[in-house]
Amino acid sequence: MRKHIVAGNWKMNKTFSEGIDLINKIINKSEPLQNVQLIIAPPFILTSEAARLAMNKNIDLAGQNCANHDEGAYTGEISARMLKSSGATYVILGHSERRAYYHETDEIINTKIKLCLENSLTPIVCCGEVLEEREANKHFEVVAKQIKGMFQDISSEAFKNIVIAYEPVWAIGTGKTASPEQAQEMHLFIRETIKNIYGSDLSNNVSILYGGSCKPSNAKELFANPDVDGGLIGGASLNADDFIAIANSF
Ligand code: 13P
Repeated sequence: MRKHIVAGNWKMNKTFSEGIDLINKIINKSEPLQNVQLIIAPPFILTSEAARLAMNKNIDLAGQNCANHDEGAYTGEISARMLKSSGATYVILGHSERRAYYHETDEIINTKIKLCLENSLTPIVCCGEVLEEREANKHFEVVAKQIKGMFQDISSEAFKNIVIAYEPVWAIGTGKTASPEQAQEMHLFIRETIKNIYGSDLSNNVSILYGGSCKPSNAKELFANPDVDGGLIGGASLNADDFIAIANSF
C-alpha cells in the first residue's frame, strides 16, 4: 500500500502570528484523519514552532526549499541540516516557481536531493510541463527529462525515501486543474519512467502527488485515480477547512 499524502505548500504567505493561527486550526481539525499523512510546508520562520505544536499529531513539517550547499558563506540560504534541526522531516524540491524565478536546474535539484537524503529529510520532488510544452505535445518528454536529471546517481536504497509531485505549471494558481484523465495518464507515465530506472518494486511504492488548483470540489475525482496518491496543495492549503476537506477526499 502506497502512502496517501496531502501536503500544503503555503509559499510566501502568512506572518508568524497568522501562521500559528492557521497551524492551530489545522491541528484541531486533523484529529479524525487516519489514512492520510498530512504535511505542511510553511515559510521557514514558522517551521520550528509549527513542529513543536504538531508534535505527536498526524502532521509532519516540510521546508519549501533548501540550499544546494552543505554550509558556509551563502547569505540568505537555509541548509538541509538546519531544516532538519528545526523539526522538518520533508522538503519540497524543484518547484516550478523555483525553476522559473530562481533559475533552478535539474542538476541543482539533484544536489539538493542528495543533501536532503544525507540529512534524513524526505524530498518531495516536483516535475511538470509549461503550457507551451503541453500544447506542443512535449509534456511526456519534458517530464521524463526532468525525472532522469533530478535522480541522476541517486541509488535505489536512497530512492526509497522519495516522494514525487506532478505539478503541470499551467494548472498552478490558475484555477485550471488537470482533468482526472490527464493527471492519471501523467502519473502512470511517471511511474513507468521510475520503473525503467529503479524497477517495479520501487515504482509501485513511490507516492506520486498531484498539484495545481487542487481544491475540495475536485480532489475526490483526482484522488480516485489508481496512480494519484495525494496532493500538493497551494492556495487551498491556506484555509484550514479546505485543506482538511481535501485530505478527507480519499
Ligand atoms: P495551487 O494549488 O495554488 O494551484 O498551487 C499548487 C502548487 O504550486 C503547490 O506546490
